[in-house]
Amino acid sequence: MYIKKAAVVGAGTMGADIAYVIASAGVPVVLRDVDAAQLDRARQHVSDLWNTRVKRGKMTASQAADRLANMRFSQDPQDLADVSLAIEAVSERMEVKKSVFRELDRVLPPLALIASNTSALSISELAAVTGRAKRVVGMHFFYPAHMMKLVEVIAGEETARETIAAVMQFSEEIRKIPVKVKECPGFVVNRVLMAAMAEVLRFKEETGVDAADIDQAVTRGGLAPMGPLRLADALGLDVAWEVANTLSAAYGERFRPSQEFASLIAAGHYGIKSGQGFYSYR
Ligand SMILES: NC(=O)c1ccc[n+]([C@@H]2O[C@H](COP(=O)([O-])OP(=O)(O)OC[C@H]3O[C@@H](n4cnc5c(N)ncnc54)[C@H](O)[C@@H]3O)[C@@H](O)[C@H]2O)c1
Repeated sequence: MYIKKAAVVGAGTMGADIAYVIASAGVPVVLRDVDAAQLDRARQHVSDLWNTRVKRGKMTASQAADRLANMRFSQDPQDLADVSLAIEAVSERMEVKKSVFRELDRVLPPLALIASNTSALSISELAAVTGRAKRVVGMHFFYPAHMMKLVEVIAGEETARETIAAVMQFSEEIRKIPVKVKECPGFVVNRVLMAAMAEVLRFKEETGVDAADIDQAVTRGGLAPMGPLRLADALGLDVAWEVANTLSAAYGERFRPSQEFASLIAAGHYGIKSGQGFYSYR
């Protein structure tokens, strides 16, 4: 199946970047959100990314303008009525995602595919609220999606082989590297990453070593290009919290979020997006 036009639902940290990647590959894309301010931020974000490429001599201003013209920013679900693939990237909460899946099932053409960018939730459970479970799949991009090549592709219990083939091919067309993984809470990368994160937070709680020193040790030790606490702030503590709770419910104690993490969430400190997380950005 050829994807001639796509949609991304949710214009936050991930959705804006995923839409940028699709438009950059020359595929028209509708970016939908319920929040007009998020759509404005997304438009600014993608314009900044293309402008940086123009300044670096990687593309001309007119190519950048053509890419932006490939994107439509919309609050209206009816604007998705002619897409062949919609990628859901709304908040990491099952009920919110289910309501988006029901809406997508209503407005998309009958043969269109629905993918979720969920970090840890069940693709089969999402598929079950639609009348097209064969055409529902996981497409898990990584932060920041305009730089990270990997896409985990996840089949739900009823996902058709043709659906997997179509999103594998589409992922390559938008210059990503798709890898098929098994459906389980957290798939591969988040299961490993969040296990490490839980250990980092336990270590921090037990020893009182501060965030900057832990991040320095991890990066200088060559374990990761970015410290885990800086990374958590960048990708959004609210999202990481939902993922940690999903994994903790599925696998138990070893994924339990720390008390400090809980306190940050209770205070509305979600990292860079709110101005405060493990670090301050004010
Ligand atoms: N942040 C990351 O690093 C990261 C990485 C990989 C995957 N993910 C996953 O991607 C998804 C989105 O995460 P994010 O960090 O971009 O979240 P975010 O909070 O930055 O953005 C979520 C967006 O969804 C919008 N939204 C909420 N309900 C909606 C609805 N009913 N219809 C349309 N839009 C709606 C919100 O207005 C917001 O703009 C989550 O499932 C998350 O687990 C996140």
